[in-house]
Amino acid sequence: MERRQDRVYIFDTTLRDGEQAAGGNLNVVEKLQIARQLGKLGVDVIEAGFPAASPGDFACVEAIAREVREPVIAGLSRTKEEDVRACFEAVKNAPRRRIHTFIATSPIHMEHKLQMKPAEVLEEIRSAVSLARGLVEDVEFSAEDASRSELPFLIETFKTAAAAGASTLNIPDTVGYATPEEFYDFCQAIIKGVGAPKVIYSVHCHNDLGLAVANSLAAVRAGARQVECTINGLGERAGNASLEEVVMALKTRTDRYGFVTGLDSTKLHPTSALVSRLSGVHVPPNKAIVGANAFAHQAGIHQHGVMKNPLTYEIMKPEEVGASGSELVLGKHSGRHAFRDRIEQMGYALTSDQSETAFALFKKLCDSKKNVSDGDIAALIADEILPASGEGLYELKRCSVKTGDGPTLAVVTLANGQGNISDAATGNGPIDAAYRAIWRAIDLEPELLSFNIKATSDRSDSLGETTVVLRSGDVTAPGRGVSTDVIESAVKAFVNGVNRLHVLASARGVELNVKKHKRQYA
Ligand code: KIV
Ligand code: ZN
Repeated sequence: MERRQDRVYIFDTTLRDGEQAAGGNLNVVEKLQIARQLGKLGVDVIEAGFPAASPGDFACVEAIAREVREPVIAGLSRTKEEDVRACFEAVKNAPRRRIHTFIATSPIHMEHKLQMKPAEVLEEIRSAVSLARGLVEDVEFSAEDASRSELPFLIETFKTAAAAGASTLNIPDTVGYATPEEFYDFCQAIIKGVGAPKVIYSVHCHNDLGLAVANSLAAVRAGARQVECTINGLGERAGNASLEEVVMALKTRTDRYGFVTGLDSTKLHPTSALVSRLSGVHVPPNKAIVGANAFAHQAGIHQHGVMKNPLTYEIMKPEEVGASGSELVLGKHSGRHAFRDRIEQMGYALTSDQSETAFALFKKLCDSKKNVSDGDIAALIADEILPASGEGLYELKRCSVKTGDGPTLAVVTLANGQGNISDAATGNGPIDAAYRAIWRAIDLEPELLSFNIKATSDRSDSLGETTVVLRSGDVTAPGRGVSTDVIESAVKAFVNGVNRLHVLASARGVELNVKKHKRQYA
């Protein structure tokens, strides 16, 4: 990567480290939407996945490498030869590609996880980085659990990686254990100790103590010039450093840090909304930069001040992060052009066929709703347009429920390419009854791990959007459904989750918990 003295490079790992938190199950169409938007946002590197983890992961990285041209496309790889080679195969079509290889360097990881001696770890690093460097020009090495590693050994690992050809050396706080002052000293000692002036030092901080952004900024002050982060702070456990917070801290406090990033900050809000919708992980209203209340002033005294001069209580302008609040509401008189512009601003990159279908669905929705919000449109696209990629094993045909005194009864009819299957069940409320009926109708008995219904706007004619996470065997999958009828949205989400379980199981070559008996089709 060409190097500029005044730049901090932003390495986005939403699609790799972040995705694991979203049930690990964004499909290739959804990942491509996010990757294209990350390209428009201007991130320097997209870590698109872990190609050796599964054929599905490989296919996603390969598709992104083929289609997203501006940022460097990186794949993650352990130090095993087959991982490095798989990673190369997946990223090779990107104009700028990177192999990111890692191994743990802390005593606890080396002894209990790797069962390797320090000398063996050094040899792994040397051979993996050399192999990667023979395949691509741009190689990153990460010392997993660096913040709990012994400094002299860590310096040796980084020296070994740099000597073998790594041009980026990453210092992860894998378990979110570091504190800012300590991490500053630690990073400074590493950079001084390794002494390779041409490499870019990078940090990758997890948020277990809520310090990921503070630690990343401390590392920048100590000399790191690449920050690894995710949109909305998505990631394992408490997540990763939040990209929007790192970027806006550097931008707003340039007086303190003195660095720029290459990002177009006005795209932060749409990118956050896109990732939230597709991952099914909601953004809390008080989340810095992208939360719904990040620029809302409730207290009278604050409102008064902001009206006189916004700088009294606002350190950033909402427009700077794309949260202007002037949402234009579309309705039945809105034309194709306005509709297309809107979906593009919202971060969706649809083919012309997809945007025609989306426009037709939008017009249909306008028949039942006077005003259609961004949330409504985004939910329609996520539910009706993007999943159209071979996920339709089951299709919901009908669902009727009878409520009143006593248990609720639901009758559900699904089609699955061989015919229609119907079943009925009673339950504790309409959604519970409908889910029990689906359990009876299909050939799986998935476990419902989470369930959430949310309105797509704050009006009473809002669409209901349901997200679920299902598990069968070792596979978990999210499901999403949207409808003006909240019960139908919940049923669609369940069916979508079942379809995704099948797609994921076949991509990974694993079995689901299929029922023994076979259904008879009508
Ligand atoms: O948290 C971590 O250590 C990682 C590495 C693979 C970079 O995600
Ligand atoms: Zn991580």
